[in-house]
Amino acid sequence: EGVTRDVPRVAVPGRVRPRRLRATPTVRRLVQQHRVHASDLVLPVFVREGLDEPRPLQAMPGVVQHTRDSLRRAAVEAAEAGLGGVMVFGIPEHRDAVGTMASDPAGVLNVALADLAAEVGDALSVQADLCLDEFTDHGHCGVLTADGRVDNDATLVRYVDMALAQAEAGAALLGLSGMMDGQVGAVRDALDAAGYGDVAVLAYAAKYASAFYGPFREAVESELQGDRRAYQMDPANRREALREVELDIAEGADVVMVKPAMSYLDVLADVAAVSTVPVAAYQVSGEYAMIEAAAAQGWIDRRRAVEESVLGIRRAGADVVLTYWATELAGWLAEGR
Ligand code: PBG
Repeated sequence: EGVTRDVPRVAVPGRVRPRRLRATPTVRRLVQQHRVHASDLVLPVFVREGLDEPRPLQAMPGVVQHTRDSLRRAAVEAAEAGLGGVMVFGIPEHRDAVGTMASDPAGVLNVALADLAAEVGDALSVQADLCLDEFTDHGHCGVLTADGRVDNDATLVRYVDMALAQAEAGAALLGLSGMMDGQVGAVRDALDAAGYGDVAVLAYAAKYASAFYGPFREAVESELQGDRRAYQMDPANRREALREVELDIAEGADVVMVKPAMSYLDVLADVAAVSTVPVAAYQVSGEYAMIEAAAAQGWIDRRRAVEESVLGIRRAGADVVLTYWATELAGWLAEGR
């Protein structure tokens, strides 16, 4: 008793003591405004054609390129952890100028989607990345004009082919990540006309041209030379995100997304304030790599940093968070109950 007894004290004005609600774990839990649930989380996964065993990624420790079999096992684990979904990216053995294998029913992504729809389709949302960059030999998200620019309207024809193949394979939700104008409307119309009215569209509405996609390029063995600034958004632009969201909702998007997450929490909060559909955010490969790298050095507490980063994304307004830690984080959440 009394170590501070003789220390001079300043009276706190009034009766207000915010620390009262921080004093014990019990009261802290009671007044927690935001929480992360396993069912809010979506695990992005990579499946690589022609692998005999999973291949670890250098810049994303703990993440692999899956074989068809190891992907199935990862999806079962994700379902058992209570995740909301898995978002599947495919890496084909062969690429060409128009990304032929993206819409081939025997292509790696479509085959994997069919595997997962059969294996875990009742337990979680099986989601497909709908974009051409993994399938083109030039690495752009669309087909090119003679002078090497991405041809928006010709690309939409390929997106429609891809959408129909993914729906046919059994995907429940298509993630349109290419940032072409009119992509949501084109895909929605084609799905409806083909009888896939129940297949949902998640629009990467505000997707920025970001340095934080760096490690993803290794994950999908991207062939990209140059950048995507002629179709992805300029990181300087905040207001434009609302325009993209408005357009995508008008075109029939069921969910809109902001990507990346951590450097765009202001954009996420803006979108969450006005969106009339659920809002997702993608904690991208570079965000994952930064925390893993710092934790590996012992510079930050890995688990606390992961939990805080995802909570921050939820607090900013995301209903759904895509994160490479989804399964592990769901395990920690279950421990805490
Ligand atoms: C494009 C796509 C990218 C990511 C998801 N979809 C890469 C890009 O736009 O260059 C990045 C995801 C990540 O970095 O985790 N299909």
